Amino acid sequence: MEIKNFSMDYYDEVYELWKKTGLTVTKSDSREGVKIMLERNPDLFLIGIENDKLVCVVYGGFDGRRGFVHHLAVDPQFQRKGLGKMMMEELEKRFKRMNVEKIHLFIEKRNLGVIEFYKRLGWYLRDDLVIMSFVPDEENEKE
Ligand SMILES: CC(C)(COP(=O)(O)OP(=O)(O)OC[C@H]1O[C@@H](n2cnc3c(N)ncnc32)[C@H](O)[C@@H]1OP(=O)(O)O)[C@@H](O)C(=O)NCCC(=O)NCCS
Repeated sequence: MEIKNFSMDYYDEVYELWKKTGLTVTKSDSREGVKIMLERNPDLFLIGIENDKLVCVVYGGFDGRRGFVHHLAVDPQFQRKGLGKMMMEELEKRFKRMNVEKIHLFIEKRNLGVIEFYKRLGWYLRDDLVIMSFVPDEENEKE
């Protein structure tokens, strides 16, 4: 598999993959939202291509203090072949190059099975934190 930087040409395929793998997609994952994320983090938005087919995606963000991982997805037909691990290792390498001290990710409670996947990559579970959110514009979704 070849890992490449995402470009907007792949947007439709990426969006389909997120939906297909059951990830929650919101307004932030619209074409406009993704464009903003890409402009801020051009080297942290990765896609995996095998035989001209998009098979995985992950997007990272760095806010200047902490790194975040969003929306890792591997096409179901290509899961359990080490591709998710490859994507995460490439992303972690890129965060390291940017001297990011710590990286976080969110897992929905309905998807706790993936904890084991991340643990195998060296991630550890936090039981000392809870997440709170605030939506500045009421027009936006609360997810
Ligand atoms: C989670 C996901 C990205 C894993 O990708 P993958 O390519 O199947 O994972 P890999 O083959 O690279 O697995 C790496 C290791 O984790 C293990 N693993 C992968 N998925 C696992 C799971 N659901 N439960 C337990 N272990 C798992 C593998 O067995 C492998 O272990 P090994 O290195 O000891 O052999 C993929 O299942 C997926 O796209 N899920 C749907 C979307 C999703 O939930 N994304 C995460 C949002 S937080």
